[in-house]
Amino acid sequence: MRAYFDHNATTPPSPEVTEAVVRALTDEFGNASSVHHFGQRAKALLDEARSSVAALVGGEPAEIVFTSGGTEADNLALRGAAEALEATGRRHIVTSSIEHEAVLNTVKALVKRGWTSTLLPVDASGIVAPSALAAAITPATGIVSVMHANNEIGTIQPIADLAAIAHEHGALFHTDAVQSAAKIPVDVKALGVDLLAISAHKFNGPKGAGALWIRRGTRLVSTMTGGKHERNRRGGTENVPGIAGMGVAARLGREKLPVNASRLAALRDRLERGVLTQISGTALNGAPEPRVPNTTNISFDGIEAESLLIALDLEGFAVSTGSACSSGTLEPSHVLRAMGLPSHRTQNSIRFSLGAGNTEEQVDALLAKLPAVVEKLRTLVRR
Ligand SMILES: Cc1ncc(COP(=O)(O)O)c(C=O)c1O
Repeated sequence: MRAYFDHNATTPPSPEVTEAVVRALTDEFGNASSVHHFGQRAKALLDEARSSVAALVGGEPAEIVFTSGGTEADNLALRGAAEALEATGRRHIVTSSIEHEAVLNTVKALVKRGWTSTLLPVDASGIVAPSALAAAITPATGIVSVMHANNEIGTIQPIADLAAIAHEHGALFHTDAVQSAAKIPVDVKALGVDLLAISAHKFNGPKGAGALWIRRGTRLVSTMTGGKHERNRRGGTENVPGIAGMGVAARLGREKLPVNASRLAALRDRLERGVLTQISGTALNGAPEPRVPNTTNISFDGIEAESLLIALDLEGFAVSTGSACSSGTLEPSHVLRAMGLPSHRTQNSIRFSLGAGNTEEQVDALLAKLPAVVEKLRTLVRR
């Protein structure tokens, strides 16, 4: 048996998505900018996908810019807004200490360009306090960027409260919703944000397709200069197969959200309860609520997370030590460190992230194996 518990790293495309990608690669190969029949068919696919992606986040189709993924959407949001703001003198950006590298390293790049930055702390449960933002924001703050759901621990931030504070001070608000879209309801109006990034491969869409939702009227300078694609906001011939697949994934994700969310929460809770009750020296990292329904992050005393990951892989279970981008480096998780966990817990934690393909049998099979695997590793360490 092989079971995949790493859906926050990536998800398998659903059959309907694969079918849409293949159809766009074969039958609908036109350039969406071409005036002839072939181009117009490709453009129709883009239009349909734009509507589905807009509906997933509660926005208008004209507010969607397709990108190559979540990383590019975050870059376009922050670099594009920063460049547009520079003439106003607002050159301070506020973000949280638990963001994905797509945001953290973009903020670092802005600092090299003369911006100042503030990293907001999180509490022990992994939540950013609105009072921390209120204390950090200044008249020079141009952008506030706080992620909707965290990729390592799944906690959901109080985005509506944070965005309201940013707006009171005349700053734009961006949220990285890569880990929340299609897992919990995402509504740009209810959240009150100006910019919101998503990525198709995190919700059973293809890799290499993402989107930035840009509130109508928000000033942004294109970071990808080229043709007039995407209403002048992102030059380059559109990735029609990827975008068509993303559109189908967005539609299915939205339709199936209520059923998937409650099913995954039940499976995740079964797994979490099983681990915490059957294995001594384990603890949940981050607040149990509010949290996306598919994620749990647990520390195991007396072992190295990487060793447990490898031992579980040999047994057929794919899990993660946290962010896929930092795996293999043995770096302690910056998220767990920001939450103030002691150093051993930042290096002995495993993320289990569930998805549509997981079953109760898979969870029970993992629970049947895990105690013995952990005990064996602990014995090796004690020797
Ligand atoms: C929170 C978050 N933001 C951004 C990204 C980057 O998305 P992509 O892989 O589409 O570039 C990821 C992917 O791991 C993520 O988890």
